[in-house]
Amino acid sequence: MARILLGVSGGIAAYKAVEVVRLATAAGHAVRVVQTPASLRFVGRASFEGVTGAPVLVDEFEADPARGAFPGDPPPDHAAISHLELVRRCDVLCVAPASANTLAKLAGGQADNLLTSAALASPAPLVLAPAMNDRMWSHPATQANLELLRSRGAVVVPPGTGRLASKGEWGTGRLADPADILAAIESVLEPAPFAPRSLDGLRVLVTAGGTREAIDSVRYVGNRSSGRMGLALAAEAARRGADVTLICANVALERPEGVRSVDVESAAELEAAARAEFPAADVLLMAAAVADFRPRAPEDAKIVKTERDGLTVELEPTTDVLAALGGLRRAGQTLVGFAAEHGAGAVERGRSKLARKHLDAVVVNDIARSDIGFDSAVNEVTIVTATGEQAVPLGPKEAVAGAVLDAVQRLRSESGLPGTV
Ligand code: CTP
Repeated sequence: MARILLGVSGGIAAYKAVEVVRLATAAGHAVRVVQTPASLRFVGRASFEGVTGAPVLVDEFEADPARGAFPGDPPPDHAAISHLELVRRCDVLCVAPASANTLAKLAGGQADNLLTSAALASPAPLVLAPAMNDRMWSHPATQANLELLRSRGAVVVPPGTGRLASKGEWGTGRLADPADILAAIESVLEPAPFAPRSLDGLRVLVTAGGTREAIDSVRYVGNRSSGRMGLALAAEAARRGADVTLICANVALERPEGVRSVDVESAAELEAAARAEFPAADVLLMAAAVADFRPRAPEDAKIVKTERDGLTVELEPTTDVLAALGGLRRAGQTLVGFAAEHGAGAVERGRSKLARKHLDAVVVNDIARSDIGFDSAVNEVTIVTATGEQAVPLGPKEAVAGAVLDAVQRLRSESGLPGTV
């Protein structure tokens, strides 16, 4: 979270600055806005006050009801000089839109309104997002002012090319995209001090999705798993600092950021990938729905229905990948299975898999319920371990993923392993 002071100068693009503020507050930043008197002709204070939740200042001589505090900060007990207090507290000063006139004043060091006074007093990094008519933009005076400001360290987010505000005009001068302006603001912020995370340094292997077993070159036997639960687990483990590998069986959803993913289709491919990755993993979260049976003799070509009088597909068992990996486990590894069980006795059946597959925990899902589980955004599970069971109430799969990782961390803590609560 950063404290962003946004200066808004006059120009039709001033309304787009509201979107910059909206994006910045949505990203968790605290924003205060100062406007030039000319900008009030384009956007009123109320728009910015509504989005920032803080008073907007225009005049150097008006009192700041927030006394220079940013949203979320306690207000100081003395009434400070507003422009000095705002720039003392801000992490970055951004001027968007920066008109040709304001750029000229900033380059010349003038301090004739609150925005320019604040800029002159500011020790914070300066981000400028110019917006103006294309002839004003290309004028040598404007370009020289920008060059001077750049040479003093200002970051300039160049305007875009396209239709301009004046009817029929086309050229360079449109305010940059608000998301690009926020990205430039964030790029000049000091990196947050390194905060240790609970799974730092741990390697977590997650399987997600459902395998497909070929009947012929186009048909398969599959299941309804979307991969949502596995993706949520991978994202949460990465958020906690783990080095995550995700084996995806036919997952159509976007992969979480910062996670290495390997795509597979069949149970045999999943087995090969999991066997290759497992030795290096500290934690295995086996959320994939792996087929228990596959066609014994899949056909290479497409079966033509007119050539057959009915079709019988003979199935053979696949390897139980989790049980096979459980048999290979080494000290220091934590293994979690997922069990899709139907109705009464679900937890007991889940528990029986703990010993049979050499697991530390089984996450039991009651698939008799239609509102949770497969392809749903929510889930309700019971985490079964050797010493007890924990009911995780109905919630988004992200929350369930958090509860599963908390349980993993507790188990590792009980065994004196790294990756503890
Ligand atoms: N699993 C696996 N390989 C298989 C089948 C299942 O690795 N061929 C894993 C799943 O990823 C999941 C757990 O084992 O973590 C589910 O186990 P289990 O409930 O035994 O699978 P089911 O086939 O549903 O069990 P059963 O029919 O025996 O109740």
